[in-house]
Order: sequence, then C-alpha cells, then structure tokens
Amino acid sequence: MSGLHVAVIMDGNGRWARSRGLPRWRGHLGGVESVRDVVRAAPDLGITTLTLYAFSSDNWKRPAAEVGRLFWLLREYCTRERGELLENGVRVTAIGRRDRIPRSALAELVRTETETAGESRLHLRLAIDYSSKAEIARASRELAQRAETGSLAAGEISPDLLYQTLTGGVAAPDLLIRTAGEQRLSDFLLWELAYAELYFTTVLWPDFRRADLMRALADFRRRERRFGGLGARPASPPELVPANEPKRRAV
Ligand code: IPE
Ligand code: IPE
Ligand code: MG
Repeated sequence: MSGLHVAVIMDGNGRWARSRGLPRWRGHLGGVESVRDVVRAAPDLGITTLTLYAFSSDNWKRPAAEVGRLFWLLREYCTRERGELLENGVRVTAIGRRDRIPRSALAELVRTETETAGESRLHLRLAIDYSSKAEIARASRELAQRAETGSLAAGEISPDLLYQTLTGGVAAPDLLIRTAGEQRLSDFLLWELAYAELYFTTVLWPDFRRADLMRALADFRRRERRFGGLGARPASPPELVPANEPKRRAV
C-alpha cells in the first residue's frame, strides 16, 4: 500500500517574527528550520508524498525585498540541503510557474530536481509561484489544444483525464494542514483537495515541528473518510426492511 500524501500551507512566518520584534524575513528563516524538521520526520510517519506551499502566485504582491529574501532562502535551501535530501532518499520536484523564478534560485532548484530524481523514499513537492486556478487553466488549455489538433475528442475530457493532465498522476493529498489559525485554501490544490481531510492549527509555521506533525496525523487517523459513501458502517440492505414498516432513520 502506498503511504500518505500530506499537503501543508506553511503560514504565520510574519506573525512569528513580529511577536519577537524581528523583521519578517527572520520568520521565513525560522520557517526553513521547520521544513527541514518535517521533511526529516515525514518518512518515519508513513508519509510518502509531502507538498509544501512555499510561495503563492499572489505572494508577488509583497514588497520586492521580502520576495527577494524568499527566493534567496529557496536557493540556500536547495544548495545546503541537497546532500541530506539525497542521503535520506528524498526526491524533490516543484509545481507552479517557473518563468518568473529568479535565475539563480531556479538553477539550484532544477539541479536539486535532477540530482534527486532517482530517489523514492519521500516525494517532496515544493509549490512555488503556484496558483491552483492557474494550474487548472493550464491543464484545460493543454486539453483544448489536443482537441484542436484532433488528438483528443472533446467528449473524452473527463474528470480523470483533467486530473491526470493537472497533476501528472500524483495521488491526491489525504490530509491538508494549515498553520497559524487561518482557515482558507488561498488558491492551493483546489481540485486535488476535493476529499482531503482538513486540519487547522494555531501553531505558527516556524514553531511547527515533528511533534506537531504527529498530532495532525493522530487527528487524521481518527477521521472516518467516506468519499460520499457510508464508510465502514454496515448498510442495511433495503430488501430486509418490510415494505409496510416505517423506515428507521440511520444514525
Ligand atoms: C507564510 O508566512 C510564508 C509565505 C506566505 C511565503 P507569512 O509570510 O504569510 O506569515 P503571516 O501570515 O504574515 O504571519
Ligand atoms: C498562503 O499564505 C501562501 C503560502 C503559505 C505560501 P498567505 O499568507 O499568502 O495567504 P493569505 O494571504 O493569508 O490568504
Ligand atoms: Mg500568511
């Protein structure tokens, strides 16, 4: 059986820094420590895919200095962590747009993707310049082009085909964690999260560690996932209910 796919909206870096009287970027620096800790912990906890929201396409609205720091941190993370990622069997890939990522950060990211391509203990997906709405539009465009050139009939476009085009076949997340108390998706994996369990914690991302991840997973394991069915509870076969007897409401 394949393991869990956990997705995380890593939020609260700015608040963490402010509460300590530090500039916002120090919160992002603290956040990198949490990434390190969670990536190390994940495989032991049954996680085989981890998708981290690192930079949203809407985050370009932030001051250039903060954006610059974030991409500097991305470059540093890739450069410094590559060795350990390889040692721990972590395969890194990025999702989102690539054409606006600063050149030096992109080069390190691509190098990390290339060098870790053969690893399979954990698939770490970094969502960078990511917008789920833009990704859905891209996948739709791709299918429309195939329809235009005649390699696909419009009638063949199904939820499965659109999902495949959107994700390349990566299984949907089982659990979404968002830190720092906000309870929204902020344009993250809108389609993929259709049946994910949602877990919100007030812990700020730079404080989030292995123990917090374990708490989230323990909560997840208590959930009953039904996917629209009736879950594990036995359903009473309709033919066993006498026609003239009022049906009891299932509870
Ligand atoms: C999350 O922390 C990191 C990114 C969005 C890149 P924030 O920077 O959003 O922190 P808050 O929400 O302002 O506390
Ligand atoms: C979402 O956090 C993006 C990332 C964590 C990278 P934001 O802090 O940007 O989201 P909003 O603005 O609170 O919705
Ligand atoms: Mg935020």
